[in-house]
Amino acid sequence: MNKLTAKNISALKGKRKITVLTAYDFPTAQLVDETGMDIVLVGDSVGMVCLGYESTLPVTMDDMLHHTRAAKRAVKRALLVADMPFGSYRNVGSAVKNAKALVREGGADAVKLEGGRPVLSGVKAIVRTGIPVMGHLGMLPQSIRELGGYKVQGKTKEEQDRILDEAVELERAGVFSLVLECIPMSLAKRVTKRLKIPTIGIGAGPDADGQVLVFHDVLGFESPVNPRFVRRYADLSQVIRKALGQYRNDVLK
Ligand code: KIV
Repeated sequence: MNKLTAKNISALKGKRKITVLTAYDFPTAQLVDETGMDIVLVGDSVGMVCLGYESTLPVTMDDMLHHTRAAKRAVKRALLVADMPFGSYRNVGSAVKNAKALVREGGADAVKLEGGRPVLSGVKAIVRTGIPVMGHLGMLPQSIRELGGYKVQGKTKEEQDRILDEAVELERAGVFSLVLECIPMSLAKRVTKRLKIPTIGIGAGPDADGQVLVFHDVLGFESPVNPRFVRRYADLSQVIRKALGQYRNDVLK
């Protein structure tokens, strides 16, 4: 069982689809890794699905380090990617410092950050240190205040052209793959065709080179945002409620 590298992931483009799921702690990361997922993403979605925040904005570097370390202890094969939280890559200096911390102290194999043009110099500087970077375009949860909510992006011709241009610029800056979140299927197809690096879609149709979802959404935990595009593969909230009710009844007997 060989540990996957960012290079291995990039090389999958055109060969087979890339499988990505989030995980935020030891037992869930172990399950995700054991199923053979290519990438375990310690997303800043941890803030919403584990920490009870209404958005990802309050998530700190300490939160990300804590959860990345836990996932790292479990992951043997998948590439472990850690999200850089809001405010942690405001300038080149903080981008490099915090990316290094996620790798050195957290044990991540790579980092992910959101945005296009405004983050290009940060991406280049992180890549220069030897840390692989995953890009993220389309709906950017860390920019919901600017975007006015969790809405599909790239609806107009101008927005579509900007997203495509930024994808090309991120590729030139050295990202090894690119998340495309909540954009029209036709745009995801265009970006995927144009880039040499793999695209990973979420709410972007079936034509991206891979797909990513949030662990809790896939398994049917209740979450503050219930995206329409998520396919639920289990209803664990129900299963857990039933089991806990049985345990409680047994104790009360
Ligand atoms: O934080 C996260 O989980 C993410 C994925 C949804 C792409 O960024």
